[in-house]
Amino acid sequence: MTDQATEAETALPGKPTAASRTTLSHIMTANETNLLGTVHGGVIMKLVDDAAGAVAGRHSGGPAVTASMDEMVFLEPVRVGDLVHVKAQVNWTGRSSMEVGVRVLAERWNESRPATQVGSAYLVFAAVEEGGRPRAVPPVLPETERDKRRYQEAQIRRTHRLARRRAIKELRERRAAEGLED
Ligand SMILES: CC(C)(COP(=O)(O)OP(=O)(O)OC[C@H]1O[C@@H](n2cnc3c(N)ncnc32)[C@H](O)[C@@H]1OP(=O)(O)O)[C@@H](O)C(=O)NCCC(=O)NCCS
Repeated sequence: MTDQATEAETALPGKPTAASRTTLSHIMTANETNLLGTVHGGVIMKLVDDAAGAVAGRHSGGPAVTASMDEMVFLEPVRVGDLVHVKAQVNWTGRSSMEVGVRVLAERWNESRPATQVGSAYLVFAAVEEGGRPRAVPPVLPETERDKRRYQEAQIRRTHRLARRRAIKELRERRAAEGLED
């Protein structure tokens, strides 16, 4: 089951995943460290949000805002002198929202060994009009088997996000109806 809006519903032609896939690369400097001397997680999160925002803007053809960021995972510390590559793509689209998947890779800036994965995240962006109201996005057209798997997994995350939000909202309403105050 999917709640992706079709081309007919949005009146927008679909766009292949590859059309907006993006990589943002950055060499880490001493300005970006935490108290342990490795790179601050917030610096990586900013790069993740930047790369995902570029992808969401490209896919939707206009402004898009971060609605949520989840499952941000840090697998390995990032060090000063690492060349970090943040790879992002649209995994899934709804009516006005897009899930962007991000992988973070790091390699030493002056060595030719392969980059290793140091993190990953999933973000939901909403495409918005100038006034900030959600607007329709083109349906994403996954092409490769990997894109199709990511699409299916994103649909599972979407279902869980909606169910969690609904369950919490209902709990709060129930507690308020019982007169319980925080
Ligand atoms: C994101 C935002 C535009 C949603 O507006 P809204 O009035 O709640 O609109 P809707 O309920 O129609 O949601 C729009 C879409 O976003 C999705 N969405 C909204 N909040 C979400 C959340 N927390 N997590 C996942 N998806 C979310 C909805 O499911 C919907 O998707 P769909 O159209 O594909 O079905 C609005 O909350 C906003 O502007 N937030 C601030 C964004 C921002 O400033 N980000 C930068 C932080 S500094």
